[in-house]
Amino acid sequence: MNITILTLFPDMIRSALNHSIIKRALSAGILKITLVNIRDFTTDSYKSVDDHPYGGGVGMIMRVDVIDRALQNQRGKKILLDPQGKQFTQSTARKLSKLETIILICGHYEGVDERVRSIVDEQISIGDYVLTGGEIPALVVVDSVARLIPGVLSKEEATIHESFSPKLLEYPQYTRPDEYKGMSVPDILKGGNHAQIAKWRIEQAKKKTLSRRPDLG
Ligand SMILES: C[S@@+](CC[C@H](N)C(=O)[O-])C[C@H]1O[C@@H](n2cnc3c(N)ncnc32)[C@H](O)[C@@H]1O
Repeated sequence: MNITILTLFPDMIRSALNHSIIKRALSAGILKITLVNIRDFTTDSYKSVDDHPYGGGVGMIMRVDVIDRALQNQRGKKILLDPQGKQFTQSTARKLSKLETIILICGHYEGVDERVRSIVDEQISIGDYVLTGGEIPALVVVDSVARLIPGVLSKEEATIHESFSPKLLEYPQYTRPDEYKGMSVPDILKGGNHAQIAKWRIEQAKKKTLSRRPDLG
């Protein structure tokens, strides 16, 4: 899968991609990430990517013409990271992981000119809070999408039973030590009866979801 990220701060993203599972997926060629600096598409000598808002107000707005030029040669689903966009979920991640190419556009400063919304295919918010830029949201999308691409995780089944797949939080997981500060691992997990363990896990996942996230059900 190809992911192109349009940003004013490519180094911020580059350093985060150089670790763990994503780094491995990049080295194996399962995932290809291209960073495009939006500033390369300016036409004036100051390389201005933003300007003051019409009608007054604080902050600077990223220009539609610069972003449009940066998008000109890009083929694939164009997604603006945007707190006003549709809430990102595991199901969105799954849909995106099946595409050949996605293009993520990171806003910054006070945001983007409203007309940018009409030159993209989708707007995604990672939650109801405002960050300084779209770089962290883009990394959230990259990370959650990448681990769903076949071959990225060493055990693909790890994405089948985890939280939100299906609409349940994951069942409780334990590892050693068996006993820690008076808290012990449930006996059923140590008994070796796989049918009973599977049943227990489903019950626990349902119980947890009902108490913590009844909205998911
Ligand atoms: C400071 S924010 C702009 C917020 C904008 N003034 C507003 O109130 O909607 C700058 C950029 O950060 C990114 N951003 C901030 N919060 C985000 C979120 N929750 N989800 C996705 N992107 C976000 C977007 O790319 C946005 O253009």
